[in-house]
Amino acid sequence: MKHAILSLGLAACGVSSSPAIAQSTFDRVKVKAGKTLFFSECRRCHAPDATDPSYGPQLDGIVGRRAGTVDGYEYSEALAGSGIVWTPPALRAWMEDNDGFMPGTKMRHIGIEDRTVQDFILAYLGSLSDDN
Ligand code: HEC
Repeated sequence: MKHAILSLGLAACGVSSSPAIAQSTFDRVKVKAGKTLFFSECRRCHAPDATDPSYGPQLDGIVGRRAGTVDGYEYSEALAGSGIVWTPPALRAWMEDNDGFMPGTKMRHIGIEDRTVQDFILAYLGSLSDDN
């Protein structure tokens, strides 16, 4: 599946270099697109790291992190007690319909249903390390 997507992407871009180089180029493009989308859809409430805290919790290291664990952030009871881990499928469900996925969350509804947009945002979130 990954290869199918990759070749589609390559065909679309007219790239014909070796698969290894092409994959990393493609990943970089996804991260870049995801950053743009993050800044238009999420940044007003979320910082990518702890240097500039925002209304929502910062999201560095979010992929694979247990929900509700940013030190000092006041989560809703729903999120703090959810016990979930932010896997890519959980993040997709959240982007698609966060308050349907987790009734009681204080994050205002967002409805990002387009899988490609979700892919890009996930690629960007995955690029944020949690060591800052
Ligand atoms: C209007 C403000 C707002 C916007 C826009 C917003 N969020 Fe949130 N987000 C919040 C708040 C507030 C919380 C904390 C929710 C709670 O405690 O229930 C949150 C929580 C989260 C969490 C859980 C974090 C954790 O530490 O468990 C994730 C993941 C998340 N948001 C992702 C996103 C993404 C991705 C986008 C953009 C596609 C986005 N949010 C857009 C306000 C926002």
